[in-house]
Amino acid sequence: MSASKNIKPAKITKICCIGAGYVGGPTMSVIAKMCPEITVTIVDINKEKIAQWNGDDLDNLPIFENGLKEIITERRGKNLFFSTDIDQAIKDAQMIFISVNTPTKTYGQGKGMAADLKYIELCARQIATVATSDKIVVEKSTIPVRTAQTIKQILDNTSSDFKFQILSNPEFLSEGTAIKDLMNPDRVLIGGEQSKAGEEAIEALAAIYSRWISQEKIIRTNVWSSELSKLTANAFLAQRISSINAMSALCEKTGANIEEVSLAIGMDSRIGSKFLQASVGFGGSCFQKDILNLVYISQTLGLPEVAHYWENVLIINDYQKTRFAQNIISTLFNTVSSKKITFLGWAFKKETNDTRESAAIYVAWELLQDQADIHVYDPKVTVDQISRDLKLVSKGLFNGNEGQGTITIHKEPYSATYDAHAIAILTEWDEFKTYNWQKIYDQMKKPAFLFDGRNILDRKQLDTIGFQTYQIGK
Ligand code: UDX
Ligand code: ADP
Repeated sequence: MSASKNIKPAKITKICCIGAGYVGGPTMSVIAKMCPEITVTIVDINKEKIAQWNGDDLDNLPIFENGLKEIITERRGKNLFFSTDIDQAIKDAQMIFISVNTPTKTYGQGKGMAADLKYIELCARQIATVATSDKIVVEKSTIPVRTAQTIKQILDNTSSDFKFQILSNPEFLSEGTAIKDLMNPDRVLIGGEQSKAGEEAIEALAAIYSRWISQEKIIRTNVWSSELSKLTANAFLAQRISSINAMSALCEKTGANIEEVSLAIGMDSRIGSKFLQASVGFGGSCFQKDILNLVYISQTLGLPEVAHYWENVLIINDYQKTRFAQNIISTLFNTVSSKKITFLGWAFKKETNDTRESAAIYVAWELLQDQADIHVYDPKVTVDQISRDLKLVSKGLFNGNEGQGTITIHKEPYSATYDAHAIAILTEWDEFKTYNWQKIYDQMKKPAFLFDGRNILDRKQLDTIGFQTYQIGK
């Protein structure tokens, strides 16, 4: 679908974004930076979060992303605003982005699989109730295919006075490199209704992105293709990781080396070299949620084979996390009870403070069941966040069983590793490579076990020091 010549899109001067999280915060900051004549207001129901976005301490923004605080310093108070006055922001804006969370449902029909759309629905109802002019509504949150239809139904049936155009504009940014991805995306995808009004809405949004992104990279599609493309992209990326992780298990049994295999297959230009890093398992807010969603949609549309196919990507991911934890237990003479096991890293990947679905949480759960004393150090994740994750672990996964182990959280790595029986690397933070590993070895119990779940450390150096090292797929 390409832009027709006689389309005259409205010029957008005021944008509102509902949801000041990992997607809304960085995305809107970059729009504000690249379009200084557009006023961008990000709103959220969470008062503390908005206070943090408005706070003087730029090292205490709700999310950490390289380059973000510089943009906030440059644009906040000029054309970038953070507010809890959602109604006013909706009224003022010509274009409204919905960037609220869409977690997996934890109750009722579709529990544990379907995306919970209640926050999206609330936003649609609020827009319909308070709007005093026509609006272009842009879905940014990852949502099931045909959610735009739901939003449209609510808007059209709740407010009869004004016209709403719904666009799907999925976000492909990757946490940790969000600003870089937003400034220079591989593509921007805009799905809209195939009508004159729909095309005008698409072009109004395309005009914003074309301020800094070339036209060839801006793809226009119908709404459903756009929504499904987002799920498909995440499913393909996660599938690559599960594929390489499945091969890592085979490497460990055969003496092949997963890094050599990755290099060899990645040089095939049809396969490509990215996303072939074997690991303790993927985490993050998107991959698991989106695949569960895809599986659920496929099942409900009567496509059990398709559902089964994608479900296996998650089965291998769970297997990889469990395999890592079980290897720690069996290597430590079949028990970690009352043993100090140090986790270096808690975030789901480096350069972010996000811990959603982090492999560390699941590995911790397995080891706690074997009564381990886990000590955690992460360079960016706060003590509060780790405690919150662990509460979820103990509530959701642990069921308050007797005899569970303990967790201690550290602010620096040397106390975390002091007197430890074993160290497990759960996140690939670069700083871990720079530690004084001899000093760490000297202060550990012997044999000193090291489980590198990210294959980031120099195996030869560790072996020379005396560590008993285990890496993934080697
Ligand atoms: C992902 C998609 O990449 C992004 O396009 C989408 O918008 C949101 O979901 P994100 O979850 O932020 O982004 O991070 P990503 O870099 O994709 O990593 C996800 C997980 O996979 C991390 O736990 C990471 O450590 C792991 N991973 C990634 C691997 O284990 N091996 C790899 O080769 C790549
Ligand atoms: P994502 O990674 O998708 O950005 P986050 O959880 O980081 O998800 O951010 C989503 C934000 O949306 C949260 O800060 C949450 O408070 C906010 N939110 C959810 N529902 C609403 C709503 N109805 N109105 C305003 N903000 C909302």
